[in-house]
Amino acid sequence: MKVLIVGSGGREHALAWKIRQSPRVTRLYCAPGNAGTALEAENVEIADTDIAGLVKFAQTEKIDLVVVGPEDTLCLGLVDALAEVGIRAFGPDKAGARLEGDKAFAKELMQSRSIPTADTRLFSSYRDAKTYVASRDSSVVVKATGLAKGKGAIVCEDPADALLALERIMVKREFGRAGDRVLVEEKLVGPEVSVLAFVDGANIYMMENSQDHKPIGEGDTGLNTGGMGAYSPTLIPDEKVLRQIESEVLVPIVDALRSQGITYKGILYAGLMMTAGGPKVLEFNCRFGDPETQPILMRLKSDIVDVMEAVIDNRLDEITLVWDPRPAMCVVVASGGYPGDYSSGKPITGLEEADQVPETVVFHAGTRRVGNQVVTAGGRVLGVTAIADTLVQARERCHEAIGHIHFENAYWRKDIGFKAIDVATT
Ligand code: AMP
Ligand code: GLY
Repeated sequence: MKVLIVGSGGREHALAWKIRQSPRVTRLYCAPGNAGTALEAENVEIADTDIAGLVKFAQTEKIDLVVVGPEDTLCLGLVDALAEVGIRAFGPDKAGARLEGDKAFAKELMQSRSIPTADTRLFSSYRDAKTYVASRDSSVVVKATGLAKGKGAIVCEDPADALLALERIMVKREFGRAGDRVLVEEKLVGPEVSVLAFVDGANIYMMENSQDHKPIGEGDTGLNTGGMGAYSPTLIPDEKVLRQIESEVLVPIVDALRSQGITYKGILYAGLMMTAGGPKVLEFNCRFGDPETQPILMRLKSDIVDVMEAVIDNRLDEITLVWDPRPAMCVVVASGGYPGDYSSGKPITGLEEADQVPETVVFHAGTRRVGNQVVTAGGRVLGVTAIADTLVQARERCHEAIGHIHFENAYWRKDIGFKAIDVATT
């Protein structure tokens, strides 16, 4: 079968690497892809927001399955547009993707089913938001309600911080129209976990869980990024809490969507905080997480194409996922300056040597090939991912591989997975 992957990040390289392993796939394309997806698939120069262009390509090439990586593409309705011309796609339709694309809508759904989440107020007026924030004496999180590449949630220590965050979102409009409305919510504390599940409209199949590291700085300091590293599995939540997350979060949100006439299919990603009062939802995403996908797919032994087709055909209950019990870790190597300004076009060396490290894959994110040279082309450049008997060994493999890689001003967090490693070794 012919498969088209849409997107150009580390997640899409990991998807291409995994889908390529399916014996059923005869041709694999990636639009627009990066220098890493080009090693697994044929890159096609169509932007992931060019819905008409993607549909036309899928029709011309008689694509059997389109796998959509990014949320923007889902929110623009690629899955709906493909359905109109009879092409199968993996991912929710536009109405389902609103769960991620509109945080206010997601909150309303959560509130309608008493799904545990942070208390929130929604504002479309800057003045009202300012008055509210100034009257609060506890820490808050200010969030743009629209899509902001994972950077639209600003965790504030005090009201002065929160006023600055409001100004950035609603006055300076750093996230454009995504900041037309904001949520101001109570700040929760606790470790974070990403729970990803396949959903076929009715059945929910949870994957092995993982933990992302959102802030740029070591010790979880500084600005939020798209994610600087991840590992799987995590120590928490245990089986009992996982079942609780399934019954108190995943099942009711799929039901709430259905009650709105939305049959949700694809990946349902719950970002959760394990608070003293139990797990609470920080956000829902409508696609695979980046960089969580990299360690998760390295651990998945089953043919992912079979699973994706079962999702589309409403027969997820017939599927069994087989996992490698060993842990995997992904360390993101970024351009210095990210998530603020950074420069691109820097030559990257040592990629082949890094790939020689056993059970290690260098997934590309922001990279581009110029002639014979791979150069940087984004904030998050590479996701070096390894699997091993222990998390400590997986981390050593990542770091051995990173030791071979060079580009100007490269930055990575040295403490990915440390919380789990500290607990496991003490
Ligand atoms: P979001 O885009 O909503 O997932 O937020 C991005 C990151 O901001 C999360 O991964 C958390 O680290 C942090 N965050 C979001 N909401 C809250 C909250 N209510 N309390 C504490 N931290 C939060
Ligand atoms: N890793 C966070 C995200 O994909 O949104």
